[in-house]
Amino acid sequence: MDINSLKTQIDADIEKIDSPAALEEVRVKYLGRKGLIAQLTSSIPGLPQEQRKTFGQEVNELKARILSLLDEKQKSIAGKKELSPSYSDISLPGLAQDLGHLHPITQITNEICAIFSRMGFIIIEGPEVETEYNNFTGLNIPLEHPSRDVFDTFYLNTPKSNTQKLLLRSHTSPVQIRVMKSRKPPLAVVVPGRVYRPDAVDASHSFMFHQIEGFMVDEGIKFSHLKGVLEVFAKSVFGEDIKMRFRPHFFPFTEPSAEVDISCAICRGKGCSSCGRKGWLEILGAGMIHPNVFKHVGYDPKKYTGFAFGMGVDRIAMLKFGINDIRLFYENDLRFLKQF
Ligand code: PHE
Repeated sequence: MDINSLKTQIDADIEKIDSPAALEEVRVKYLGRKGLIAQLTSSIPGLPQEQRKTFGQEVNELKARILSLLDEKQKSIAGKKELSPSYSDISLPGLAQDLGHLHPITQITNEICAIFSRMGFIIIEGPEVETEYNNFTGLNIPLEHPSRDVFDTFYLNTPKSNTQKLLLRSHTSPVQIRVMKSRKPPLAVVVPGRVYRPDAVDASHSFMFHQIEGFMVDEGIKFSHLKGVLEVFAKSVFGEDIKMRFRPHFFPFTEPSAEVDISCAICRGKGCSSCGRKGWLEILGAGMIHPNVFKHVGYDPKKYTGFAFGMGVDRIAMLKFGINDIRLFYENDLRFLKQF
């Protein structure tokens, strides 16, 4: 057998190896017990004396060559195996990450707070678990007032050692009490936050919703200041051509009090199903802070006056985005949320 043509064949065989299994196959073919090298070696005794030495050397060289080529091949296959799972082409464009965004209620809350903060209001938050005093008594809401009923407020099981009954705040107004008790006028504050009422859930009611409270206290604050501030707010949110109207109303913690409507943002005042064909939509309650509230927080009602308002954020978000069911905000349905 011609050693040179054997070499060529061996080189070609080893070159083709691309897996550990193929490597083993080639190894057995050449180095196995019945492999080529074994056959060649066993043929040596049958050769004429003068050829044995050279032929033996050639077979040994051939074997060494096969061993070293297989060794090289094994390393290169192992190297590939190690690389493949973590191999990355850094020149490929990156995988896009799904970016989330703020909930529509949070977006509107931020937008409204930004409008008031441009007018000099500071933003303060209060706790959702409140005392009965801050939620009602301090706000001049008498014991017999229907909103204090267990059907209209979520009361918590309060430990007997507590002097104050605890509840889930039913509006953001208790933060007026907290802020006024801990600070002195002049004050201009907005308070965003969640509030809770045991209402049956339907398209326009939820047991939890959002309010933004606002109030300003100083010497000489008048109802006209309230109107001016609310007008800037309404026009910034709904556009310059929005109209506003104040209807007389009653709140125990403001006197005089008003409910404020805006011309329907959907039909622009013409009358549609969203505004019950009235052309107007109620968006907030407001008024001049009642002297009894000032007494409760230790302000002199002869020296200071102030206004307060409380708006429903969910309502405003529904109007602004044209949403007809409040429950959509709370179902966590991405098909809905992704639209904002
Ligand atoms: N707290 C009132 C409510 O929840 C709104 C309000 C706030 C009214 C401040 C007047 C002044 O309905």
